[in-house]
Amino acid sequence: MKKSEIKDLVSKLTLEEKAMLLSGKDAWSTVPIPRLGIPSINLSDGPHGLRQCNGLGWGESVPATCFPPAVLLACSFDEELAKKQGAAIGEEAQDQNVQIVLGPGNNIKRSPLGGRCFEYFSEDPVLSGHIAAGVIEGIQSKKAGTALKHFACNSQETERFVIDEKISERALREIYLASFEYPVKKAKPTTLMCAYNRINGDYCSQSKWLLTDVLRSEWGFKGFVMSDWGAVDNRAQGVYAGLELEMPGTGEENKRELVNAVNGGPVAMPPVDPKFRNKLTMRQIDKAVTRLLEVVFALHEKKTEKPCDYAKHHRTAVEIARESMVLLKNSGALPIKGGKTAVIGEMAVRPRYQGGGSSCVNAIDVTKPLDAMREYGEVEYAQGYSLDDDADYSRINEAADLAAGCDRAVIICGLPDSYESEGYDRTHINLPDSHLRLIDEVVRKQPNTVVVLCNGAPVAMPFIGKVNAVLEAYLGGEGAGQAIADLLYGKANPCGKLAETFPQFIEQTPSYGNFPGENSRVEYSEGIYVGYRWYEKHKIPPLFPFGYGLSYTTFRYDSITLSADEMTENDSLTVTVKLTNTGSVDGKEAVQLYVRQEAPRVSRPEKELKAFKKVFIKAGETAEAVFTLDRRDFAYWDDKYHCWRVDSDKFTILAGGSSDNCPLAASVQVTSQQQYCEPLNIHTQFMELKTHPKGKTFTDRLRTAIGGDKFDEIFAHLPQDWPLRTLVQMYDSKLTMPMLVKLIEQTNQE
Ligand code: BGC
Repeated sequence: MKKSEIKDLVSKLTLEEKAMLLSGKDAWSTVPIPRLGIPSINLSDGPHGLRQCNGLGWGESVPATCFPPAVLLACSFDEELAKKQGAAIGEEAQDQNVQIVLGPGNNIKRSPLGGRCFEYFSEDPVLSGHIAAGVIEGIQSKKAGTALKHFACNSQETERFVIDEKISERALREIYLASFEYPVKKAKPTTLMCAYNRINGDYCSQSKWLLTDVLRSEWGFKGFVMSDWGAVDNRAQGVYAGLELEMPGTGEENKRELVNAVNGGPVAMPPVDPKFRNKLTMRQIDKAVTRLLEVVFALHEKKTEKPCDYAKHHRTAVEIARESMVLLKNSGALPIKGGKTAVIGEMAVRPRYQGGGSSCVNAIDVTKPLDAMREYGEVEYAQGYSLDDDADYSRINEAADLAAGCDRAVIICGLPDSYESEGYDRTHINLPDSHLRLIDEVVRKQPNTVVVLCNGAPVAMPFIGKVNAVLEAYLGGEGAGQAIADLLYGKANPCGKLAETFPQFIEQTPSYGNFPGENSRVEYSEGIYVGYRWYEKHKIPPLFPFGYGLSYTTFRYDSITLSADEMTENDSLTVTVKLTNTGSVDGKEAVQLYVRQEAPRVSRPEKELKAFKKVFIKAGETAEAVFTLDRRDFAYWDDKYHCWRVDSDKFTILAGGSSDNCPLAASVQVTSQQQYCEPLNIHTQFMELKTHPKGKTFTDRLRTAIGGDKFDEIFAHLPQDWPLRTLVQMYDSKLTMPMLVKLIEQTNQE
């Protein structure tokens, strides 16, 4: 529908109808206005597969393919693969008459304790942003809509409806918002879903700064914003701030609030933003309705009747899981070759492949790891532990005895459902004690033991030195069982890399002591030092670093070439990395490119991921990965001048297969052409006059005002870090404060 037609429609709507449109019809659809031909569209979770349900959604949902949750997908380090997953979800959305898929979720993993870590991609905004962009482009390529969520900083579950997150502007820009900025600009999601929490005092659902100034004015977002389910506080202020759709519908309640805010009637909710006085104009309402209707009509008109191939999607789910699982340790136990394998652990027959809460899919076709392994070789099974009773140790001996009689043991264990879910955070990173005891006992009787972990977030691994191999399968979707078997038996070569750091113990983590906060408030005191940025800055050795993952082959990083060794901040730089597969099997490597500033004027991380590329290399062959870096890749957020800033300096570009192993490095000298300064004022320090563009003019003026000799006498001994006002307060310079202020103003105005 054309813009002019929508404008015409809006003009025919009554205020009541407009207010109705801005709230859901129910939990999963928008309000139709049949008299004007305005249709309703359907919304459904979720980020790794559809969850179409009735009511508020606690019951069983319509069956759909359960793809790997974000935690695993991100380990693919492969934007194209993310697109493939998105496209398959988009096809199922078309098939199930869903117009907006509520995902992907790309909040930053601030702490491994976060209850929804399995629903989010990474601790790093570049990785997170790129994988999110892939998913969005995939879903939207099938003409279904997306809701990128939860905007922003929904990094914990504790008190999620009210928590006030105190975050520096720099950490917001460089870490938490950056994760959204890239996909918003690159993939143009149809909608965004705002988060429940508050940021520096303001609810995300009514923050004009977040929803309008940053999202629309700076990033150019054109769709509409919906609330998370129940995230609306003051409805009228939400519309003022840029929140179009309230979900789920609240019926009369908030309709009345909006109508009264326009008509001057009583508005129940107290306004929070001092600039907003619980009053809305019809223009503000019309703008919100227009944005909503543009999307409603665009999606409604894009229905396709193509049949959906769910069997193919299952194969896609397996492929993505296989390309993403991370081999953490291998002392030669893998791939499995011949002999008899003891498969131990109830997760082999009751797999854990997704997390609990709104993203939980009613999976169509779940492969059990034990069944998939049977296809490859001789296996025997023992339960080992009970998923229904953590404290049941009665099955351990039987499992260890079975292992002793086989050529190897594969223990499949991890976090039971109750350990992690939407709605609450973890309080520790330990596996159930019965799983740990099982590993100990099996290893005592069978030294050739492999551990396969199924968990949605990092766990401590006290057994790491004792076992021969560890495969981090994470939560891998309905095809995880097949993917595990394919990798263990070497049908596929592992190529996933960790999208987050694994700490040795929780006390090492960046937010330790400040997570999840107290009294409805949490301080993000680690600032920009999230994930590997923290471990590297503080030289803390983690259990496994960000970007880490093994393969059945080996890669040699041969060379790095830069297109220039000098550049201005506005040039772009091409980086070419050559690497060789030096092993005997074909494999894929996720090449990672990091940037380090050598002598920064502000505190900066040791290095930051700026780009990555997954390359397939046949055994013995060499391949190239080419990257382009631009201004933003060298910049940091200057919270004095509120802008992205690049300083002239030497920057080192590092390339490798893990954050702790970048064998290649090359340097480029970047010259910044931008002047960063605020107008002169009485607090400007004397040393700043040397570099300030108006510094010389002002100094000349001062000299005239004070008189040459006196000026020279004062300036000969003046401490350089003192502010200009001290000329009046500390020296007998004949200057008065009004004179100084006038001189400053005159200079600034020129
Ligand atoms: C979750 C969202 C989800 C919505 C609808 C909320 O509780 O935070 O991620 O999309 O429910 O199920």
